[in-house]
Amino acid sequence: MREKVEIVQGDITKLAVDGIVNAANTSLLGGGGVDGAIHRAAGPELLAECRTLNGCPTGEAKITKGYRLPARHVIHTVGPVWHGGGKGERELLRNCYRNSFQVAAAHDLSSIAFPAISTGVYRYPLEDACRIAMEEAKAALERYPQISRVIFVAFAPEAKLAYERAAKEVFG
Ligand code: APR
Repeated sequence: MREKVEIVQGDITKLAVDGIVNAANTSLLGGGGVDGAIHRAAGPELLAECRTLNGCPTGEAKITKGYRLPARHVIHTVGPVWHGGGKGERELLRNCYRNSFQVAAAHDLSSIAFPAISTGVYRYPLEDACRIAMEEAKAALERYPQISRVIFVAFAPEAKLAYERAAKEVFG
């Protein structure tokens, strides 16, 4: 399974994969961070399609086309805002990954790239977030054998280190 997982540093909007995951907000109408980058790169048709989706609850995931992105699809998921860990944040973040993989498998996507959901504006602790990401990737690869590539995209160097530590813990 570990051979199907890649950790790269860079800009997720540049990846030519079946789907990239967007760390959106519940409106799905765009924002800053990776959400802003994805909407800028995809062009206005992405927002037009997002408007038809009527938002997305935290922890859930919805799919659109990729438009001007090199990726064929965008899977929009909404991570939890970190409030210290006592408001079910961990379970909600797990759900973001589980639901993104479930939507990818349902649409026969075989390569999917994730940003570090919730670790920016939503202030979720990076180490814990990367461990959850890696644990859920392992479970998803066992559950959906048709998924052949999972790419974790670190924007900042410390995120790459956090993903690498998490991969060692989860995959050995
Ligand atoms: N490619 C890959 N990763 C990126 C990119 C990019 N182009 N831009 C930012 N990131 C990284 C950040 O460094 C962070 O590690 O994505 C991670 C998630 O950070 P945010 O984009 O701030 O997302 P999040 O913390 O989930 O907050 C979501 O921010 O942009 C708004 O509309 C969005 O309200 C929502 C909130």
